[in-house]
Amino acid sequence: MIRKYIYGNPYETEAVIRSFSPEDNAPAHGDISAADGFTFTYTMDEKDIVYGLGEANRGLNKRGYCYISDCSDDSEHTEDKRSLYAAHNFIIIDGAQTFGVFFDYPARITFDIGYTRSDILTVSCERADLCLYVIDGDHPYDIVKEFRKITGRSYIPPKFAFGYGQSRWGYRTKDDFRKVADRYCQEGIPLDMIYMDIDYMDAYKDFTLGNEFDDFSDFVQEMKEKHIRLIPIIDAGVKIEDGYDVYEEGVKNRYFCQREDGSDFVAAVWPGDTHFPDFLNPEARRWFGDKYRFLTDQGIEGFWNDMNEPSIFYSKEGLAEAKEMALKFANNDTGNWDGSGESIGVWQMGDKLRSLANSPEDYKRFYHNVNGKKIRHDKVHNLFGFNMTRAAGEAFERIAPDKRFLMFSRSSYVGMHRYGGVWTGDNKSWWSHLLLNIKMMPSLNMCGFLYTGADLGGFGADTTRELLLRFLAFGVFTPLMRNHSALGTREQECYQFENISDFRHVIGVRYRLIPYLYSEYMKAALTDDLYFKPLSFTYPDNEMARRVEDQLMIGNEIMITPIYEQNARGRYVYLPEEMKFIKFLPNGSISEEVLSQGIHYIDVALNEVPLFIRKDRCIPLAQPAECVDMIDTKHLTMIGYKGAEYIFYDDDGVHKDYENPENYRTLRM
Ligand code: GLC
Repeated sequence: MIRKYIYGNPYETEAVIRSFSPEDNAPAHGDISAADGFTFTYTMDEKDIVYGLGEANRGLNKRGYCYISDCSDDSEHTEDKRSLYAAHNFIIIDGAQTFGVFFDYPARITFDIGYTRSDILTVSCERADLCLYVIDGDHPYDIVKEFRKITGRSYIPPKFAFGYGQSRWGYRTKDDFRKVADRYCQEGIPLDMIYMDIDYMDAYKDFTLGNEFDDFSDFVQEMKEKHIRLIPIIDAGVKIEDGYDVYEEGVKNRYFCQREDGSDFVAAVWPGDTHFPDFLNPEARRWFGDKYRFLTDQGIEGFWNDMNEPSIFYSKEGLAEAKEMALKFANNDTGNWDGSGESIGVWQMGDKLRSLANSPEDYKRFYHNVNGKKIRHDKVHNLFGFNMTRAAGEAFERIAPDKRFLMFSRSSYVGMHRYGGVWTGDNKSWWSHLLLNIKMMPSLNMCGFLYTGADLGGFGADTTRELLLRFLAFGVFTPLMRNHSALGTREQECYQFENISDFRHVIGVRYRLIPYLYSEYMKAALTDDLYFKPLSFTYPDNEMARRVEDQLMIGNEIMITPIYEQNARGRYVYLPEEMKFIKFLPNGSISEEVLSQGIHYIDVALNEVPLFIRKDRCIPLAQPAECVDMIDTKHLTMIGYKGAEYIFYDDDGVHKDYENPENYRTLRM
């Protein structure tokens, strides 16, 4: 049962696609105050677990910390951070009372989940202009499925997007890309995509190509002949440069976000000074979306949308303030560190420079034009990335309505999951980020984001062979499986390390599993279900399973138990029921062992991929393949329990013939 409550005069975010008649009484759970801003308060029972918040920091159970939905380009995902790139304002309380609440509010909103007081949940925001959707159900899993129904079907990528992708910020020339393709091929490691980061463009201008790529369609074709798709990045900011068509058209048609005085707002990002397309304006969205044609016309079939929180390195206004301060700083000859009186010290100057990026002040300096109404950006901040990706998604429907495109974004809001997936942004080559990745996946699924994954190996900082292998062994199961790293960090393509055969094996296992993973992804998307689930969703009455956060259920058949610690040779696992322990061994064989319900220690070497098959279930396995297009789904073998059956979904992976009953067949063990 879902009830909608309206407070004040909310902005229509379009996160929810079903219409409701609003209630006139107060919600049955918690207390609401709309007098001074908005506050929802609920007293939690000692055993209550709080799920949700999608792409957020810390655990699967969100209880015990404070999180702020305020889309932020912050590349230091340390434990103390409250905001990441996304705003997924859906929580589910599971315990004394079980219910879910979606706070449909497009600006900064705080979720204090037992942080200020361990038994109090408070959700608060500055303006009492929002919609609340309160969902009752017996179990969090049912509540999630109800929520997913009202926000619309999750994005479905083409099948090739389930292959492995290599990325690195710093590939510039055709030969850089050829080298990656050729090395993977020589080493016999499957590869389906190479990502093009900002250096493919001319001076970081969206929808342009550097001189190197004059004959781009030929190059795209050359790569396709090697079974590789090139996936270019698109950034939110449009470079200010006379003669650049995207800039000139945007200025002429007033498609950019404007200051209060009507001038186009200027923000510095990778290209230097840029304007932000007003993605909330339907006309501007259509215009920007149609620009993707420049690349689709040349054979491109997928993109990643970046810097769309939107990220601002500094604004003209912010820089002017800092310069003024710098003059005072230069005239401070007292040599002290914190200044005094009118003088500016080293620390103050440093703080000022650091605060230039993504400053809340800048988000108040520009406006959107939504159907003739002017709206200050900070009031709808969390919708920017959503609408950038929507621009692309809507355009793909016009460009090739029958075809699927790969699309994922850095910033997002609930609703964007209909148009694309997300990657989890600039993580680091840290073991703690592998664990964060594991815990974040089911939460993202609860909010509708099924096509998702992290930068495997870690984006910032230097990876190690061991960390990359363990990251990949988890990435085998994430729909988006991409190795990406930052400029200046240690190179982390698989061939940069010793014993490359271990990488070949781990990534090879992904390809053997793709028929199953794709089938479960499609079933989840088509029935508004989850691909990744916490154990408690499958075993609701098992108190122990409710507390496990480092093992996940995938689809309806398997449980995964990734290794996320340096030098570990294995780990403890908890089995809520008897299961078959499967290990993909480096010699290509598969070990099987039935383990009873309870706690076990399992050995897992660095070059092995473990998974568990639930009792009386089975899954299909393909023969090893070099790329997704070469996977033979007609001749599958089954592993699992004798006599079990599996409903297998498959389609051409290109078109949208999802409802065809022929896409399903029953496979038997
Ligand atoms: C941002 C992105 C990262 C990309 C970089 C350069 O930091 O999150 O993935 O490599 O920009 O474009």
